[in-house]
Amino acid sequence: MTDLSALQDRLISDIAASPDLAALETLRVSALGKQGEVSALLKSLGAMTPEERQERGPKINGLRDAVATALAARKADLETAALDAQLKAETLDLSLPAAPRRGGSVHPTLQTMDEMIAVFAELGFAVAEGPDIEDDFHNFTALNFPPGHPAREMHDTFFLPPDEAGERKVLRTHTSPVQIRTMQTQAPPIRIVAPGRTYRKDSDQTHTPMFHQLEGLVIDRDIHMGHLKWTLETFVARFFETDGVTARFRPHHFPFTEPSAEMDIQCDRSGGELKIGQGSDWLEILGCGMVHPNVLRACGLDPDEWQGFAFGMGVDRLAMLKYGVPDLRDMFAADTRWLGHYGFSAFATPNPASGLS
Ligand code: PHE
Repeated sequence: MTDLSALQDRLISDIAASPDLAALETLRVSALGKQGEVSALLKSLGAMTPEERQERGPKINGLRDAVATALAARKADLETAALDAQLKAETLDLSLPAAPRRGGSVHPTLQTMDEMIAVFAELGFAVAEGPDIEDDFHNFTALNFPPGHPAREMHDTFFLPPDEAGERKVLRTHTSPVQIRTMQTQAPPIRIVAPGRTYRKDSDQTHTPMFHQLEGLVIDRDIHMGHLKWTLETFVARFFETDGVTARFRPHHFPFTEPSAEMDIQCDRSGGELKIGQGSDWLEILGCGMVHPNVLRACGLDPDEWQGFAFGMGVDRLAMLKYGVPDLRDMFAADTRWLGHYGFSAFATPNPASGLS
């Protein structure tokens, strides 16, 4: 007759010594599997006399339970150890410096956008976005462009092929449609800036078919040109990190603002170098104005109750100015040597506390 306690000792010590989950599984099958040693003992109970069975039964069952418990405990131990080993092997040391030659950099346009957003965020503006592919309503009609306005014509605008309904979508020619989308979905008061890509058929030293704008919109009660002027002058001073930027507003025309203006900042171009905040030259940096009553109406707002101002500026152009990039077209040539020279560290996020650039 099998010596049960010797068998139990052997099985338990084998289980404790099993090196991995596969070995443990082999042990389990050889003990508790269909053809296993312990299973054979359990089967042998059927052939015993009732007295033998009464004597051996509880012992064999006890052996089976002891082996099953030992198997489960060893399995848990091995699984924990396997997980520990995996976690150790997969550790990533984030403090290791990146290989210097392979480090990417932040494009000056994106850096400039982040700087602009940091300044406007501090002034209480939220960031809004809209699609690059726009419909005629948001890009033109709701912005009070009269039918047949030259800006709708082929020479400025990229049109997509007409859809089944004959509607021609456009690549947005400015970020102003985000004004409309914002007023349609948010109740005033509104204070947003909308950075993004814009498209026009144009290419020379200061124009590329794709460029970036940052739109601004403020809607509230009793808003006037004074608010616009203070906001933009404050922005320019903080963006260029100088105290004394003199700005002037020249009357202009945009269909969606009335009155409209372009803002110039004082600069010095002598010696072939551009200096902001000194000299006797002027540099145009943005368009702005009070939101036209027709635009407010198109968005379901009552112009007698709500007023606002809006502005739009060229992000790439401000990047060129601030960081001395001579040709706009280089900005989008994807030349890694250019990016290596003009790019910014991804670890230095612009913010008003630690500085913008
Ligand atoms: N959308 C105008 C442009 O593309 C800029 C602008 C925005 C002017 C908002 C006034 C108000 O040039």
